[in-house]
Amino acid sequence: MRVTTLTMMHMSVFLLLVSSASASHYYGGFLTFTPKGLNPDGSLTVEILYREAYRICFPYQTWYCYSGNCGITTRSVTGQIASYSGPSYSWCQLETILIKNVPTDSPFEMREASCCWIYAPNNNGQWNLFAHIDLGTRSDTRKPNSSPVTTIPPFIRVLQNCPQTINILAHDPDGDHVRCRYGTVQNMECGTCYNDPDFYLDENLCTLKYNKSNIIGPHIFELVLEDYPTRPITVSHMNGMSLTKYPFHTSSNGSSSPTTTAPDPLSKIPLQFVVVVDQASPSCTPGQYIPKFVFPTPGNGESLSAPVKKEMKFIINATAIYAMLSAIVITGPLNMTEYVTMHGHFAEAVIKWTPTDDDLGDNVPICFTAQSTFGTSTFESEMRCLTVIVVHSIGTGTASVFCTEGTMTVEVDKSSVPGLHEENLHLKDPLCTLTSNSTHVIGIMSLNSCGTEVEEDNTTITFKNEIISFESADGIIARTNDVRIGFSCNYPKRGQSYFEFTVHKIPFVFTEKGFGTFTYQFEIFHSSLFNSMVDPSTYPVEVNLGEMMYLQIVATAQLSNTILFVESCRATPSDNHNYPIFYSIIENGCIVDDTVVIYAGNQTVFRFGMEAFKFIGLHERVYITCSVILCEAGNHTRCSQGCVNGTATPAPHYRRRRAAITETSSHFISQGPLQLRRSSDSIGSSLTLNMNVVFIAGALLVALATVCGALMYRTKMSALKYQKLPSTEF
Ligand SMILES: *[C@@H]1O[C@H](CO)[C@@H](O)[C@H](O)[C@H]1NC(C)=O
Ligand SMILES: *[C@@H]1O[C@H](CO)[C@@H](O)[C@H](O)[C@H]1NC(C)=O
Ligand SMILES: *[C@@H]1O[C@H](CO)[C@@H](O)[C@H](O)[C@H]1NC(C)=O
Ligand SMILES: *[C@@H]1O[C@H](CO)[C@@H](O)[C@H](O)[C@H]1NC(C)=O
Ligand SMILES: *[C@@H]1O[C@H](CO)[C@@H](O)[C@H](O)[C@H]1NC(C)=O
Ligand SMILES: *[C@@H]1O[C@H](CO)[C@@H](O)[C@H](O)[C@H]1NC(C)=O
Ligand SMILES: *[C@@H]1O[C@H](CO)[C@@H](O)[C@H](O)[C@H]1NC(C)=O
Ligand SMILES: *[C@@H]1O[C@H](CO)[C@@H](O)[C@H](O)[C@H]1NC(C)=O
Ligand SMILES: *[C@@H]1O[C@H](CO)[C@@H](O)[C@H](O)[C@H]1NC(C)=O
Repeated sequence: MRVTTLTMMHMSVFLLLVSSASASHYYGGFLTFTPKGLNPDGSLTVEILYREAYRICFPYQTWYCYSGNCGITTRSVTGQIASYSGPSYSWCQLETILIKNVPTDSPFEMREASCCWIYAPNNNGQWNLFAHIDLGTRSDTRKPNSSPVTTIPPFIRVLQNCPQTINILAHDPDGDHVRCRYGTVQNMECGTCYNDPDFYLDENLCTLKYNKSNIIGPHIFELVLEDYPTRPITVSHMNGMSLTKYPFHTSSNGSSSPTTTAPDPLSKIPLQFVVVVDQASPSCTPGQYIPKFVFPTPGNGESLSAPVKKEMKFIINATAIYAMLSAIVITGPLNMTEYVTMHGHFAEAVIKWTPTDDDLGDNVPICFTAQSTFGTSTFESEMRCLTVIVVHSIGTGTASVFCTEGTMTVEVDKSSVPGLHEENLHLKDPLCTLTSNSTHVIGIMSLNSCGTEVEEDNTTITFKNEIISFESADGIIARTNDVRIGFSCNYPKRGQSYFEFTVHKIPFVFTEKGFGTFTYQFEIFHSSLFNSMVDPSTYPVEVNLGEMMYLQIVATAQLSNTILFVESCRATPSDNHNYPIFYSIIENGCIVDDTVVIYAGNQTVFRFGMEAFKFIGLHERVYITCSVILCEAGNHTRCSQGCVNGTATPAPHYRRRRAAITETSSHFISQGPLQLRRSSDSIGSSLTLNMNVVFIAGALLVALATVCGALMYRTKMSALKYQKLPSTEF
């Protein structure tokens, strides 16, 4: 029976091939959809995107409406996005984008079916693609659902003797849980409907694991991707119909619960492709025969943001010591360009794409692999996928950055960004929130606080941070649009007027909602009179063992009547408060080192002294790192509690404040380094703290501030579902 089917298929394929160009073999396809808004007449616009691959580049198949009202296509674009021509296999992947006008938000179903899959064992030739689309309004986002986002090179290679995990891209723009399963005959989701025993499909993680197969050659996969909400929601329709959608419950060990029937997904989309098992390889180690991705290739599962009308770019770099790189296979949006250069044992591809206004808000998937050859054998790398989120560019004048010698200030005009609210915003360090007045959201930070990152090249030093929106902690999804506003200050290294970054820390500046801007200045003094501080240019500070050291922390705040509280201070060999090796000076507001003397300060000045301890001698340099809090004067704050002995240190991260904002988060500030005084012969020891000692021109600061706009119009984003990168990668 099977034999007959196969023979017939071959016959028909042969006949079709000679009779018409439309008879090329099918290599798989998929369909995704993105709602594009409500029209004034009550109809909806939806973008349907499908990619299909055939032996030749000819778009001869079209999807048809299977059930419901699929509306009318108002615009359609088709183009070739990837192709491959090899000795045994050639394919061409085409993309079609349909802009549809749908009269109602009731569910509809689309289908495509034809003959023939490329030849594979257990393959009866026929193929079916099926999609269930529901544009009803979700109760959580108050918008129609988007399907999962995916793409795949139609033809993936594994080596017979090399177990491999294929991470299927299954990203969901709504933050839903995406599951992957084999299509079923009764739902017409497949043609062959074969669950390949040589592969294990993890439905929950959307990974396809290959272990071993005796069948060399193509294996075809006809999968269905389904999205489930992470908590129960309703999907309501204009006709009054309302459906409750439940999460897909999985037991804690990851397998799906067999006792309850699976709930209905929000949408169903097909994903079909070929995995070819190639002859055994002499080695399964990536980088030998199989190409390995190296810097600066993006990691699997990364998400990049790309402002509309600005070119985005990334580089793929692959190497193989024993084989010659032969191709970089990439599947991405239409109009994406690739400049691939082969250099024998390594290959580089520069990928560029400029999103248009039509792409705004889209989550655009890109996947790629690299191939090498040795003799007549072909080796393919792991597949990597990333998602590009298309965001608004910030118009000029809507956001400004001001750079000074020690601080960056970013101001965003609230009217330019709908829904912008400082309650849901923070800087790179989530403990740094923003403040505002009636017209602007304002963030001020020092160059060493709030997660500010430093980049340096020959001529410029750049400090970068970002305003990022987050979901409110009570679990209610923010109704505002997601926001990501990157900004930076560029300081030329040469110029007319100079100032110097020394190892000495300038005051730490933070903003927090309810508190405005506040500053901590942490200094070392020569005596208990605290009238003469150690000159910043003489850092690192040299001390003798047992000698008294005098330290002072001064808080300055916009808000009046504030109290400074020093929660902890530690000495660490590295300027990192999380460093595992430390010497405790103060913990939980309690003095731990018994040489500590507290000197008279006031509400906002904390002064203490201590003997230089042996710990300093055990390390080349030590830093003093303190965790500090600022409170409004009053009785019920952490500041008024003082030393809390015996209780476990509360985690400083994301600590929820009481309903009324009476205290700030704990912020870490540091000063140093300190080192033991050396004998005269070792004076002038290296001071190579790379960026710490650079000269910067002050004159050009304001002119060089940049805001790289990125307002994300999406509701919620979940982590992509991938396995972690192997840590051996680079
Ligand atoms: C993979 O195949 C090997 C050899 O056939 C077998 O010993 C091993 O258990 C298999 N692993 C999995 C995860 O199936
Ligand atoms: C995983 O959970 C399922 C359902 O609770 C159970 O039947 C199965 O035995 C569990 N498997 C393992 C390996 O614990
Ligand atoms: C790509 O990798 C090669 C080999 O590791 C390296 O020499 C080259 O600089 C890399 N290309 C880029 C753009 O980093
Ligand atoms: C691709 O580029 C062409 C020419 O620049 C343009 O007409 C077309 O609209 C673009 N297509 C997409 C999908 O961006
Ligand atoms: C709000 O702050 C911005 C930036 O400091 C300033 O330009 C603007 O005038 C302020 N608006 C009001 C109403 O005070
Ligand atoms: C930066 O400096 C290095 C070494 O001095 C030099 O090789 C390189 O070309 C310079 N790069 C630029 C962009 O000037
Ligand atoms: C903390 O309490 C313990 C006894 O509970 C006491 O021995 C210790 O001295 C206290 N430490 C401080 C810093 O008060
Ligand atoms: C605290 O002391 C500092 C320095 O002596 C002084 O400038 C400041 O005004 C004082 N603050 C209060 C609230 O007394
Ligand atoms: C703090 O509490 C004490 C006694 O409980 C009270 O006398 C004092 O007024 C309170 N201070 C403030 C600022 O609320």
